[in-house]
Amino acid sequence: MNPLTFAALRRLADGRFHSGEAIARELGRSRATLSEALGHAGELGVEVFSVRGRGYRLAAPVDFLDAGAVAAEMAAGSQAAPGIHVQVVDEVDSTSSRLLALAAAGAPSGTCLAAEWQSAGRGRRGRAWISSLGGSITFSVLWRFERGAGHLGGLSLVAGLAVARALAACGARRVAVKWPNDVVVDLRKLAGLLVETSGEMAGPSVAVIGVGLNYRLPEAVRDRIDQPVLDLARATPDLPSRSVVLGRMLRELEAALRGFEREGFAPLREEWLATHAYQGRPVRVLPAGEPPYEAVVTDVGPDGTLLVTLPSGRSMALSSAELSLRGQKAEA
Ligand code: BTN
Repeated sequence: MNPLTFAALRRLADGRFHSGEAIARELGRSRATLSEALGHAGELGVEVFSVRGRGYRLAAPVDFLDAGAVAAEMAAGSQAAPGIHVQVVDEVDSTSSRLLALAAAGAPSGTCLAAEWQSAGRGRRGRAWISSLGGSITFSVLWRFERGAGHLGGLSLVAGLAVARALAACGARRVAVKWPNDVVVDLRKLAGLLVETSGEMAGPSVAVIGVGLNYRLPEAVRDRIDQPVLDLARATPDLPSRSVVLGRMLRELEAALRGFEREGFAPLREEWLATHAYQGRPVRVLPAGEPPYEAVVTDVGPDGTLLVTLPSGRSMALSSAELSLRGQKAEA
């Protein structure tokens, strides 16, 4: 995306009319170049109106991230310096892909990248992650562990729980987790996590935790998502700014990652079970590349595996799969 598009959208962020001539002058470009740059806003999921004699206006204000406000929210109420260091960029292909490359190049634990726009955001199982400029919060955190990659089993559950806690603290009601690490409200997806790990069996290992939150998705963007979704704006009566929400998620994630480093998933297992939207419920299990089957969710293991019972009465421990609820209208 043309950097001028982001610069022009920043000047229009308040949702009021702004003269095209004044913006073009401020940015040192011609009005024709500005008009061409704003012509690409639709690709970011942002609608721009142009009215002769009044200028340009956004259909809805865009709340751009402010790295200082994110850092301030992370530090709120804590004496210790945050162990996560956030960089905010306008555009990247995928914050997780970028952090995986940085991890391989030796980037330190706690490196975090948040992007206003991902041109190739990735979901689980090779799906695309659909978002819009200002309508989503997309970021990834790199964390290094002493333990081996084979012992990071419960990490994705811990990370999902941390995001759920942060969103509840932002005022979202009825927040729940869905194994392995979605955050849902009334079975609709509010946030998704992609946890990618690598390293030696005996350690050390590294995890890149990517989080995509639906913050205030325009209807046209919601319509492109092939599962029931909800955004934070509809889940909370008093929506905090994107920077505050990001800061809270990072604060909870850091605490959860430090706890997981010390004690693993076990101390959070009860809280996770109490927050699991699918606990004790009949589900359809969708293993990657295999036919789906029916089961009932019974428990979660100390290593984060999901325990289900098949119609035959046999128990199974799942370490990866997707779930959908049986007999519900909104299948999340
Ligand atoms: C899922 O539910 O399928 C996981 C979605 C994860 C999306 C986030 S957005 C930030 C980070 N960068 C990516 O490319 N993906 C993750």
